[in-house]
Amino acid sequence: MNHQRPQIVHVALGSNEGDRDAHLQRAVDRLAQVPGVQVRRVSSVRETAFVGDGPAQGPYRNAVVELACSLPPHALFACCKQIEAEAGRQLPAPRNHPRPLDIDIVFFGDDVVDTRDLVIPHLRWHERDFVRQPLVELGVDVAAKRRWSGPEVIEAPEAMSARSLQWRTGGCVIGIVPTMGSLHAGHRRLMEIARAECDRVIATIFVNPLQFGPKEDFTAYPRDLAGDLAVCRQAGVDAVFAPSVAQMYEPAFCSHVAVGAAAEGLEGAVRPGHFAGVATVVARLFAIAQPTRGYFGEKDAQQLAVIRRMTRDLGFPIRIVPCATVREPDGLAMSSRNAYLGAADRAASTVLARALRSAREAFRRGERDRDRLLQRARTIIANEPRAGLDYLELRSEEDLAELPPGPIASGRMLVAARFIDGVRPVRLLDNLSLDGADEA
Ligand code: PAF
Repeated sequence: MNHQRPQIVHVALGSNEGDRDAHLQRAVDRLAQVPGVQVRRVSSVRETAFVGDGPAQGPYRNAVVELACSLPPHALFACCKQIEAEAGRQLPAPRNHPRPLDIDIVFFGDDVVDTRDLVIPHLRWHERDFVRQPLVELGVDVAAKRRWSGPEVIEAPEAMSARSLQWRTGGCVIGIVPTMGSLHAGHRRLMEIARAECDRVIATIFVNPLQFGPKEDFTAYPRDLAGDLAVCRQAGVDAVFAPSVAQMYEPAFCSHVAVGAAAEGLEGAVRPGHFAGVATVVARLFAIAQPTRGYFGEKDAQQLAVIRRMTRDLGFPIRIVPCATVREPDGLAMSSRNAYLGAADRAASTVLARALRSAREAFRRGERDRDRLLQRARTIIANEPRAGLDYLELRSEEDLAELPPGPIASGRMLVAARFIDGVRPVRLLDNLSLDGADEA
């Protein structure tokens, strides 16, 4: 179906392989041959060094073409892909690799397109001099043009649901990364994995009162939305869902997810009600955002087990993706709590990763006895007087069920310990699969 009236469309051309200027000229000629497309003007061609992450490669030749187009955006997009393929471009194209021809639709009149394969206005047009300058040369009022400036921040659950529906209707795979903010490199890694696997990524930032116990200070939990948005922007997140407590839980809210065996023992024993609060908020986030995949860190292994169980039990059609723990260079697992460690405790805190890795080494060398593996790790922790051990356990890899004494075929070792000499007492958690490669 053609547009009633032709739209003024700007497409950016780039080439850094073969006879670059010939590729650009052929693209202009081919666009002019497309029925329903008229080439109005072509900017001068400029040379731009390659920027970005990808293999080392030569500079680009770039130009912008102004079209009058009576085709719908996706029909023009299909023609652009066809012209790229004719120029010898491998499709689907590996990201940031050299290419004979790249054609991006930058603007399509004032249309906004937000689908799996096509986003208009182009996501990064305003960050690229080799697009912005030719647009100015062609007389486009760039200041008046719409730009996507990092993640859209959504507060109302209804607005989040509407955006998600729009994306799903456009065929998008949606990844969600639930967080309570205070984002660090571990969260960023979750977002990057989601970014690589999904068409749209939602990060949620919500400090969930339901998962705080009576002795845990909900109001003192660190909040830094501006800093968190910067992390989300760098990780390429599309939308940040950051509702208020009142928006998440209306005054009459009274339905909770009850969690069973997965929440017993370990953290569940120390923090009664915590996992019910986590399961309730994650179920609500899933219901609001309706993602295709949910990304959770293995660092919080019991939380991951609870969420997997809840997702299955309640029938959410969402794939839970476990992501390897991100560590500091000295082995300490990344956590928002690390910031509260004093210098001496920070140095001592590496004992947890050392103890777990030592047990894993022993397992790899053939030790299979549950208690000898535990004893090995326990001795290392006992030699660090600053660490107060809460628990050290070996549980099943599958669902963290308890393992009987005797030989084990596989397992995950989990530890929690207190460090008390910093700004405030800090409880650190860590865990490691004895037979897996679960470290980022
Ligand atoms: O891991 C967290 O930050 C939280 O427990 C979660 C999953 C976002 C639920 O509030």
